[in-house]
Amino acid sequence: VLASAPVEVTEGDVVRSVMARQRACRSYRPDPLDDDLVLSLLESATRAPSAQNLQPWEFVVVTDPERRAAIWELAARAWVAFGSARSAPVLSPAMHADVDRGITQGFVGAPVSVVVGADLTRCERATLGSSVFPAVQNLLVAATAHGLGSALTTISAVYGEELGALVGFPERVEAVAVVPLGHPATALGPSRRDPVTDHVHREVHGATW
Ligand SMILES: Cc1cc2nc3c(=O)[nH]c(=O)nc-3n(C[C@H](O)[C@H](O)[C@H](O)COP(=O)(O)O)c2cc1C
Repeated sequence: VLASAPVEVTEGDVVRSVMARQRACRSYRPDPLDDDLVLSLLESATRAPSAQNLQPWEFVVVTDPERRAAIWELAARAWVAFGSARSAPVLSPAMHADVDRGITQGFVGAPVSVVVGADLTRCERATLGSSVFPAVQNLLVAATAHGLGSALTTISAVYGEELGALVGFPERVEAVAVVPLGHPATALGPSRRDPVTDHVHREVHGATW
């Protein structure tokens, strides 16, 4: 019997594989998440870069079923008012149905919803997104690495004032996203993306790799 040489798995391989598995999960098992685990995911989130290292992110971890329902009711309201119709021409019917199910039923079933805020005393409006969403992406990747489902959603932020009020944000904190977290109800498989070289150019835009 030939002994096969051990294959060295590098940290780079692991990060690449986790990122390739990061997907929007739209249906969850109801099992609660351990507080320590949630806090560790958020600690990874806060390792993100931000302009002037001002760390303008604020995270409210919501587990209360009534508050979760109120949060996702805002998302459903925006989806019914305009999101569904706007998405219909862009999404495949299957994906449109999946997003519809997620917003109207799936996300509210996740045991945790993290409401993400941006403190406008710690970022310019112009850098709000670029200073907060790197942390949100870290959260998604950390959740994936732990086998958890997650999703970046911004639709409820259309009603940002109401969303912020549901979690007690003061006026200086703008609600920008909601990330559900929990164990996925079904396995998602790898993400589908265009070949990287479709979007990478050498030296100048348009020059192929
Ligand atoms: C800014 C932003 C907003 C999003 N909002 C929603 C949303 O409201 N509902 C939803 O189901 N997915 C939402 N998504 C997830 C995208 O649909 C998802 O990332 C994309 O379709 C890729 O699919 P995958 O995650 O399955 O690979 C959002 C993603 C981004 C970046």
